[in-house]
Amino acid sequence: MKITVIGSGYVGLVSGACLAELGNEVLCLDVDAHKISILQQGGVPIYEPGLEELIKNNVAAGRLRFTTDVAESVAHGLVQMIAVGTPSGEDGSADLQYVLAAARNIAKHMTEYKVIVDKSTVPVGTADKVKQAVQEELSNRGITTLPRPQAGEARGEGRETGQPSFSVVSNPEFLKEGAAIDDFNRPDRIVIGADDERAIEYMRKMYAPFQRNRDRLMVMDVKSAELTKYAANAMLATRISFMNELANLAEKVGADIEYVRKGIGSDQRIGYNFLYSGCGYGGSCFPKDIRALQRTGEEFGMPMKILSAVEDVNHTQKNVLLQKITARFGSNLKGKHFALWGLAFKPGTDDMRDAPSRVVMEGLWAKGATVTAHDPVAMKETKHIYGERADLHYAKSPLDALQDADALIIVTEWNAYKSPDFDAVKSKLKNAIIFDGRNLFEPQDIKAMGIEYYGIGRGN
Ligand SMILES: NC(=O)c1ccc[n+]([C@@H]2O[C@H](COP(=O)([O-])OP(=O)(O)OC[C@H]3O[C@@H](n4cnc5c(N)ncnc54)[C@H](O)[C@@H]3O)[C@@H](O)[C@H]2O)c1
Repeated sequence: MKITVIGSGYVGLVSGACLAELGNEVLCLDVDAHKISILQQGGVPIYEPGLEELIKNNVAAGRLRFTTDVAESVAHGLVQMIAVGTPSGEDGSADLQYVLAAARNIAKHMTEYKVIVDKSTVPVGTADKVKQAVQEELSNRGITTLPRPQAGEARGEGRETGQPSFSVVSNPEFLKEGAAIDDFNRPDRIVIGADDERAIEYMRKMYAPFQRNRDRLMVMDVKSAELTKYAANAMLATRISFMNELANLAEKVGADIEYVRKGIGSDQRIGYNFLYSGCGYGGSCFPKDIRALQRTGEEFGMPMKILSAVEDVNHTQKNVLLQKITARFGSNLKGKHFALWGLAFKPGTDDMRDAPSRVVMEGLWAKGATVTAHDPVAMKETKHIYGERADLHYAKSPLDALQDADALIIVTEWNAYKSPDFDAVKSKLKNAIIFDGRNLFEPQDIKAMGIEYYGIGRGN
């Protein structure tokens, strides 16, 4: 199948490369000429495990290409998959300007039937807006769309009449950065929102290779599909904030959240997944998607009270490490120096969007402290965000970051931080103190080594 992926970011590149691997001919478009030039020269502009090799193999096989040429990208794919960003607008709603620009671009150039797939995370009603934008552009070109085709005409692709027509499908993506390729190849489910048999048939065809093990395709109406994506992220964020609020209470009452976690996770109705307390959620999805769903609720006169609490708790939690640090060192941190392990919003990615590390570092700087940070992959992106500054240094290794620091702060649970040489940690730090934002260690073990330890919700 010929597929165009519009937007070559985390979702676009992973989707494009995985679909190419299955034998499809994929063309990835982006408006960012620098990104496309890196890709055309054999590089990969983001870090995602396994992605570089997958892209390289499929480019070599001639199944995967990259372009900035909109006319070429529209001509290429029967399926036009929109995977552009949907950041928060000023009022918290999803900013649809990139999605709608992509849709208009398709309509400006299409000369035959296209299946337009919304893979970006978009609020309920977006497919209708995409449809309207495409129709407007077609009218500007003096083209009236064909009547909706019958299912039996599916292979005609509108070519018999030479007239363009199109379908809009909602196909939200559920991949997790850090495990994106595996998630895309072995999804828990593939959600297709469509009211058009012809488009559903093409989606079934495109996703057929993912169906061999079991039927993963869930076909539903467009609005339900759009809402499903937000509901999933809202539920996951709720679990995190719930555990964080509980952790803070555990600390107050002298309980240990790790015992509580195991105690409740063993209940099959609750389960262990996504039940950790820590220093808050971040990333490119949860914060903006929670805000967007709240905004949708407001628009429809249905305030999402649980989500307001989820967001509030997360805001507090992103500051919890700073509170512990100032409780230990005082609120004036001038002259203090901290080692920080983990910059990316989670392990396995270089994504720094809304990362908790940013709140911690910015808070430390505002109080006069300096930071030496380490991250296995996100230091380049951090330099890109903050530039050169005197109060931020980067270390070549986790241990190097500790030299003469007043304490170690752990923000991201990379595997490389889970089993350090504690003797070396102690000897490098000026004060043997660890603020562990991810509960990587057992407090009593660390304390037994003569290290002062502050975890999250480890009351006793
Ligand atoms: N990152 C994730 O883990 C994840 C997971 C599931 C869903 N999503 C959703 O997928 C969408 C994309 O997310 P992402 O993280 O890949 O974003 P991203 O910012 O990494 O990539 C988006 C890309 O789209 C490009 N772009 C913008 N307008 C364009 C246009 N008109 N034509 C061509 N390219 C254009 C940008 O230059 C950018 O490279 C978002 O809606 C996001 O919520 C993301």
